[in-house]
Amino acid sequence: MQTLVIKKKKLNLKEFVQRRANENDCSTLLKDEFKLVDEESGKIVCLYVKPTEDEASFNSLFDACTKIKYEENFRTSGLKTTSRIFGYNPRNAIRKDFCAATSLANQDPINHNKIMSGGALAAKYYALYNKELYEEHLNTTKEKVVKDFKFNELPFTSGIVNDNNPLSYHFDSGNYKEVWSAMIVLKKNIGGGYLSMPEYDVTCEVANHSIFYFDGQNILHGVTPIKKLTPDARRFSIVYYSLRAMWNCEPLRDEIARARMRREAVETRRLKGIKVT
Ligand SMILES: [Fe+2]
Repeated sequence: MQTLVIKKKKLNLKEFVQRRANENDCSTLLKDEFKLVDEESGKIVCLYVKPTEDEASFNSLFDACTKIKYEENFRTSGLKTTSRIFGYNPRNAIRKDFCAATSLANQDPINHNKIMSGGALAAKYYALYNKELYEEHLNTTKEKVVKDFKFNELPFTSGIVNDNNPLSYHFDSGNYKEVWSAMIVLKKNIGGGYLSMPEYDVTCEVANHSIFYFDGQNILHGVTPIKKLTPDARRFSIVYYSLRAMWNCEPLRDEIARARMRREAVETRRLKGIKVT
């Protein structure tokens, strides 16, 4: 595996954030496995692997990705994205004020489990190439996240499956600080769909059956246009990450009791507010 030592450029982020990523934004396109070391910090900031021994796992994930029902969203940049979240969700005061499994777990448990099982593949090369960070990450999850909301013995809490989504430049948000997310890429008859990181002036091919690791909160990134080479072409990315808000979750039973009490308090206030004259 090649090691690249690169100084992070200070870009005018306003020129990039929410702009669509293009293949010519960076001068180097990387197609082979690499580790990218930040020249100043000396830390490995990205890792790209193309495992050859995990075909069965990749194929099972591809199969699950083709069967999942996706949801369409519009990003603030106006780009339409088709995706589905999996794993665990933190409290959301408006939609669902308790920590819980995502709706996919209930609606499609078989494929949800297949995607969750891919977490072990995502963890494998993280642990192999960056043991120190992996263990720190895993220990944080062990300490801060209650058992109900953990992937078995893995550092991740949650994730998203993207279906053919080019993504404008952005920073991720909501994750633990300074840990990696893992992106598994599955492609069939696709051109483009590369991961562009203009601060390091590199674009990574993210080939079929590859895994890309990085801290997406610290590195600006976007996905270049995706070209379907045949009518049945597909490109999926499955991103495994760890949400900081999961640290606030209590065991499921306590989460439900807390949400119920809060709801009762709100409804009681409403009733008291009604004045019949
Ligand atoms: Fe991202």
